[in-house]
Amino acid sequence: MPIIHLTLVLFLLYGSRTLLVKGVCVFHEKGSHCTCQAEDLLDLMGLFTCAQAEVFEIQNGYLGISPHSDEFDFLSTFGRQGDFRQMMDMLKMLPVNKIIFKHITVSNVFLSPLLAVLPNTNIREIVLINSTVEDNQKPIVLLLSSSLLTSVTVVNGSLPSSYLLPNSSYLHSWVMSSIKKAVLVQSQVSQLECRFIRHLKSLEELDLSENELSDGFIDLTECPDAFKKLSTLKLSHNRFQTYKDVCHSLENLTSLVDLDLSHNDFSVPPSACSWHQMFGVFNLSDTKLQQIQNYLPSKVEVLDLSNNNLLLFSASPQGLRELYLSNNGLLVLPALHDMPNLQILQIDGNDLTAFSERDIENLEQLQAVTAGRNSYHCDCSSKDTTDSLVKMSSILKDWPDDYVCGSPSLRQGTHVKDLNLLFFVCHTALVLSLICVGSLIVISSIAGLVCYKVRRARKQGGGEAVMK
Ligand SMILES: *[C@@H]1O[C@H](CO)[C@@H](O)[C@H](O)[C@H]1NC(C)=O
Ligand SMILES: *[C@@H]1O[C@H](CO)[C@@H](O)[C@H](O)[C@H]1NC(C)=O
Ligand SMILES: *[C@@H]1O[C@H](CO)[C@@H](O)[C@H](O)[C@H]1NC(C)=O
Ligand SMILES: *[C@@H]1O[C@H](CO)[C@@H](O)[C@H](O)[C@H]1NC(C)=O
Ligand SMILES: *[C@@H]1O[C@H](CO)[C@@H](O)[C@H](O)[C@H]1NC(C)=O
Repeated sequence: MPIIHLTLVLFLLYGSRTLLVKGVCVFHEKGSHCTCQAEDLLDLMGLFTCAQAEVFEIQNGYLGISPHSDEFDFLSTFGRQGDFRQMMDMLKMLPVNKIIFKHITVSNVFLSPLLAVLPNTNIREIVLINSTVEDNQKPIVLLLSSSLLTSVTVVNGSLPSSYLLPNSSYLHSWVMSSIKKAVLVQSQVSQLECRFIRHLKSLEELDLSENELSDGFIDLTECPDAFKKLSTLKLSHNRFQTYKDVCHSLENLTSLVDLDLSHNDFSVPPSACSWHQMFGVFNLSDTKLQQIQNYLPSKVEVLDLSNNNLLLFSASPQGLRELYLSNNGLLVLPALHDMPNLQILQIDGNDLTAFSERDIENLEQLQAVTAGRNSYHCDCSSKDTTDSLVKMSSILKDWPDDYVCGSPSLRQGTHVKDLNLLFFVCHTALVLSLICVGSLIVISSIAGLVCYKVRRARKQGGGEAVMK
C-alpha cells in the first residue's frame, strides 16, 4: 500500500479513539531519521511525523507488560491483541528499514510479534543501545518465513540468560543466519561459543570491541565452517594478552582483511607468529608493544602501530600505503625506501632528530607526513634536516607549530621554520680559512711583487753599472 494512504489508515484505526496529540516524535529530514519517546507510541497519530522515515528510533521506556502501573504498559494501552497486531501490520507499509531502541526495556510481548512481522517489512537493521531484553517466560514464536535482517547492533545490551539456552537455538539460527554485520560491544562477552557462531553463515563484519574476551576466546577447531566470509573483525578494548594465541586462533579465517586488536595488552614480549592473511587494515595501536620483529603479516596496506613503546621499526611489510607510528620512542625513521606505495606517514610524537628530503625521494604517491612533536637537532651539522622540513612543508601536517628544535640547548623550543642558519653562520670555519688563504695569497702576491720590483730595481741598477 502506498505511503499516501497511511494517514487514512491510521485515522480509521485509531483516530476515532485516541487523540492525545502530543506530537513528540521528531523527524530529521537529514538521514530520514525519526525519534520518538516510548510513551509517544501511546498516540499513534503522533507517529504521522514519522510516516516517511527510514530510520525509526524509540527511546526511554518500557515496551512490555509493566509491573508498575505508572509506566507505559504496551498491552493495556493497545488493549486487545488485535489492535497490536494491526499496528505491527502497519509497519509493512512504512519505508522504515532500521529500528533503534535506546534506553529501552523490551519484553518478548513486544519482540515476538515484531520478529514475526519483520520478514514482511523493509526492516533490515536492528539496533539496541543501553537496552535490556526482558524474559517473561513466554517463548518467542516465529513464523516460517526466514529472516531478512542484515545487521544487528547491540551496545551495552543485556539479554536474559534463558535466551542463550540450547532450546532457543531455533531463535539463534533464525536471527543469525542472514546477518552480514554484527556489532556486539560493551556487553561483557567473554567467549564465542561454537553453538552460536556456527549460525553466522553470512557474516562479513563483526565488532566485539569493549568486551571481556581473552586469549582462548574462540575455538574454531570445533566449528571449522564458522566465519568463512568474515572480512572485518574488531577486537579492540578486550583482555587479550598472548599475541601468538590470538594469531593462532584466527589462522583459518582466510577472508579476513581488516583486523583491529587495538587497546589490548601485549606488553609481555610475544613469541613470533606468522599471519597467513594479507591484510588491508591491521590495527595494533595502544597495545603496549615493545618490538614488532616477527609479529607482522607479510602484506598490509594500512598499518597502525601508534601509541606503543617501539624504539625501532625495521621489518616493513609489503604493500604499505598508510603507516601510523605516532607516539612511540623511535629514534630514526624507518627505511621508507622499502615502501614505494606509501601515501600517508604519521610519525609525530617520537624522538626523531633528523628527517631528510632524501628519505622520501622515491615516494611518488606520498600525500601527507605528520612528523611534529619530535626533537629535531638544529645546528649546522643538521642543516639538511631543517632545510628539508622547510622544503617539504606543503605535505607536512601540523606545520609549522609542532616542528620544534630539541637540541642543542641554545635552540631548544625554537620553531624549525624560524631557524636562520645562514650560510655564513654554518660555515664559519670555511669562511675563516678562505679569508686566511685569501689574505695569504694577497700578502704573498704583494710580497712577491715587492721582491720582484726590488730585484728588478737591483738588476736595472746592476745593468746600468755594467753598461757604464
Ligand atoms: C548500560 O546500560 C544501562 C541501562 O541498561 C545503564 O544504566 C548503564 O549506565 C550503561 N552503561 C554504560 C557503560 O553505558
Ligand atoms: C548509555 O548510558 C550511559 C549512562 O546513562 C551513557 O553515559 C552512555 O552515553 C549511553 N550510551 C549510548 C551509546 O548512548
Ligand atoms: C528452555 O528451557 C528452560 C529451562 O530448561 C525453560 O525455562 C524455557 O522456557 C525453555 N525455553 C523455550 C523457548 O522452550
Ligand atoms: C586450521 O585448519 C587446519 C587444517 O584444517 C587445522 O589442522 C587447524 O587445527 C585449524 N586451526 C585452528 C586454530 O582452528
Ligand atoms: C586503530 O584503532 C584506534 C583505536 O581503536 C583508532 O582510533 C584508529 O583510528 C584505528 N586506526 C586505523 C588506521 O583505522
